Amino acid sequence: MEMEFRVFLIGCLFHHIAKIDLTTISQGGKYIARFGKKGAAYDLLQQTANAYNQDMGVNSSFEPYDTYTKLEVDPEVSNTTIHDVVFYLKTLKAPVQRNQNDGNVQSGKQIFMALGCDKCHKSQLTTGTSNISALSNKTFYPYTDMLLHDMGSGLDDNYTEGSAKTYEWKTPPLWGLGLAKNSQGGSYFLMHDGRATSIEAAILLHGGEAQHSNNNYQNLSESDKQNLIKFLESL
Ligand code: HEC
Repeated sequence: MEMEFRVFLIGCLFHHIAKIDLTTISQGGKYIARFGKKGAAYDLLQQTANAYNQDMGVNSSFEPYDTYTKLEVDPEVSNTTIHDVVFYLKTLKAPVQRNQNDGNVQSGKQIFMALGCDKCHKSQLTTGTSNISALSNKTFYPYTDMLLHDMGSGLDDNYTEGSAKTYEWKTPPLWGLGLAKNSQGGSYFLMHDGRATSIEAAILLHGGEAQHSNNNYQNLSESDKQNLIKFLESL
């Protein structure tokens, strides 16, 4: 399994946020970027300042250049507001798994591991030290490695962001997957462009580094497929 780290900061996997000067976004250091579908932003501060600037056209001292005129303008949002939004995002509650003790769900989890899905959709990660104690050294269950992977030509959208290739995508977390349908009007819209309207359709679109898992899935018996989906819906 090839995992591509576009940029490196060895030894600081979940610790780097504390080391960044919170009044500027330093581009000089080397960071593993984990936010966004192409893994282009290295922390929630960068992600938030970028979103204000590029998605909403609101400049801050972190992103002082107007996206349209390219001219430097006075900040339109304060650093305090940006940091408050970052704090809010950092402390949002993660969805809790449901039906964990159901026999079919448990067997589905074993199938998930056996198919190699867990190589990218990591079931368990642990945070580093944080000055927010609720986030410090905590084990959590996101079902992602937060890394970019070659997903094959079928998912190549000819577009890039940061230094990701056009066919590379960051593994999305699967927590909350089973809740997504009802919060989106009764249908799934999975994968980066929402083209998969069922969990099975999403699995069948996996190519590149994930082709092997996809093939393994197709070789399952009907009942094993159903248990795998039940497990995924419990997340
Ligand atoms: C090589 C890494 C890799 C492996 C192995 C892998 N996935 Fe994925 N998975 C991804 C990436 C990357 C995406 C996002 C692709 C995109 O957005 O186009 C994804 C997307 C998904 C989605 C859609 C999530 C969403 O929110 O849109 C589901 C469901 C999923 N994978 C389940 C599985 C299952 C089940 C397996 C095992 C059969 C598996 N994956 C194996 C990397 C992987």
